[in-house]
Amino acid sequence: MPFKQQALLRQKLFVLGSLAIGSLLYLVARVGSLDRLQPICPIESRVASHLPEQFPLRTLQYKRGILHELRKGNATKEQIRLHNLVQQLPRAIIIGVRKGGTRALLEMLNLHPAVVKASQEIHFFDNDQNYARGMDWYREKMPFSFPHQITIEKSPAYFITEEVPERIFKMNSSIKLLIIVREPTTRAISDYTQVLEGKERKNKTYHKFEKLAIDSNTCEVNTKYKAVRTSIYTKHLERWLKYFPVEQFHIVDGDRLISDPLPELQLVERFLSLPPRISQYNLYFNATRGFYCLRFNIVFNKCLAGSKGRIHPEVDPAVVAKLRRFFHPFNQKFYQITGRTFNWL
Ligand code: A3P
Repeated sequence: MPFKQQALLRQKLFVLGSLAIGSLLYLVARVGSLDRLQPICPIESRVASHLPEQFPLRTLQYKRGILHELRKGNATKEQIRLHNLVQQLPRAIIIGVRKGGTRALLEMLNLHPAVVKASQEIHFFDNDQNYARGMDWYREKMPFSFPHQITIEKSPAYFITEEVPERIFKMNSSIKLLIIVREPTTRAISDYTQVLEGKERKNKTYHKFEKLAIDSNTCEVNTKYKAVRTSIYTKHLERWLKYFPVEQFHIVDGDRLISDPLPELQLVERFLSLPPRISQYNLYFNATRGFYCLRFNIVFNKCLAGSKGRIHPEVDPAVVAKLRRFFHPFNQKFYQITGRTFNWL
């Protein structure tokens, strides 16, 4: 066979081989995604007791599509009526803690087919003006969902705002409450970093973290500094416990949600009495971002915005040590109350 023909044949074989391998890879990935979209199991609990026994895969994908159209404002009133879509009050709220990883937690829970998230922070219970607008206003802020789904919202300011526990209790005394915490000193520095970035954007100067966190007169920790106060988790939790029993709270380890999110999400699924549907397939580590990102299906994946995962400024180790010593007794109390222990020094 002439050399030219041989080369042509080799080229054809190469193209056919690539096609075969590509199809094989596609099938393997597809099986992975199908596996994740198994029909939803029946759920025993109060939270989702009306979930259908079988939820056909096709319907689930189709219904997700409708919700997506709705979010884009493309679904018609007729579709809303036809599919029995509703705007439900949340059955679970991520009440805090600011910079604990609240956005990551909400987005990751939204991977679950029975969960629908309110994308924006609504600030209904912590903002007097919003609260005065009433419960109908709040409900209208909720996304459309199917009746079997549960809606979750997050507003981290709820955790530290005095009036909020009573207001939420009045709405639903059996609501499930999620609190995501990080090592308190790291959380305080993250809080500071966010404010610092805002100031720099406006070309304003700002004090160093050390100056804000330590009272220069007494050389003690400055408990008037909000970033410090927010990290005294037990003080805030005690206010909530005047209204809700401890069983209604679930504490999420925000540090582990960064390094190994799946086990934390599985604990939340159990707390919300949801069938386990979030799997390793849905989470992949993105080395460029340095964080886990989300995979919804074979075509759609996303990482959190760049404002999540900022580089923290260097803080004097002596100040870090002082803060860690300061938080220690509060942390002990927090472990005792919640029954969840962390390795915070
Ligand atoms: P840093 O910016 O200090 O790293 P919140 O959403 O409550 O504001 O919390 C922000 C924090 O979420 C970030 O703090 C980041 O560390 C953490 N986080 C957890 N999981 C993340 C993820 N998968 N992608 C980006 N940030 C994540």
